[in-house]
Amino acid sequence: MRIIRTKNYEEMSHAAAQLIAAQITLKPNCVLGLATGSSPVGAYQQLIQWYEQGKLDFSAVRSVNLDEYAGLTPDHDQSYAYFMRHNLFDHVNIDLANTNVPSGISGDDECTRYDQLIANFGGIDLQLLGLGVNGHIGFNEPDDHFSLGTHKVTLTESTREANKRFFASLDEVPTHAYTMGTRDILQARRVVMVASGENKAEAVKQAFFGPITPSMPASILQFHPDFVLVADEAALSLI
Ligand code: GLP
Repeated sequence: MRIIRTKNYEEMSHAAAQLIAAQITLKPNCVLGLATGSSPVGAYQQLIQWYEQGKLDFSAVRSVNLDEYAGLTPDHDQSYAYFMRHNLFDHVNIDLANTNVPSGISGDDECTRYDQLIANFGGIDLQLLGLGVNGHIGFNEPDDHFSLGTHKVTLTESTREANKRFFASLDEVPTHAYTMGTRDILQARRVVMVASGENKAEAVKQAFFGPITPSMPASILQFHPDFVLVADEAALSLI
């Protein structure tokens, strides 16, 4: 595990974008595992800027997103499919047909289909992750075991509470989601996590400087052979 320590969100975003850009340069038709939430937005903005300057070409890139809220259609403005178009896909030359977000409305067959899709791609070259305040990755919540493939989860109250800022009220935050499993994430050849702000400091400390345990899902990344944590000083303030 490597840690890239940055001063603030802006520097964190720049450093993470450099790793993603390096992956695209190394393998133009790479498979990127992408994430939502506020943490990766700055990195996406940097990638868009490099694309606009002609420094980056997404035309052969393929992508698979981590997760989606159950019950939200891709055109719902809080769906992760919408988030990805709005924050990245609509602004670069990626072929939308090569982008994938789990469907929130297709039922449980979606889980098998999504894992098959990742397998057909030959796995993920670089997986980008955020970190939940309770240590979740994707929507893999604290549990008594690490999850395997894509599955449906019940969101914890703490996650719904943390994500309610994007919705009109807590009642509107979906109670369930579809997420890639921990095994799917761990099988990516490279993993890059972005973490920013004091509210992530406790999770960073427990996940990467404590025991590997499914009660802190991100802790399993300690086992990954090519894992980089890109975090700002506030997120690293407890270590
Ligand atoms: C959501 C997403 C996660 C994300 C987490 C942290 O629950 N499913 O993939 O990492 O929120 O979000 P943020 O980056 O906004 O703190």
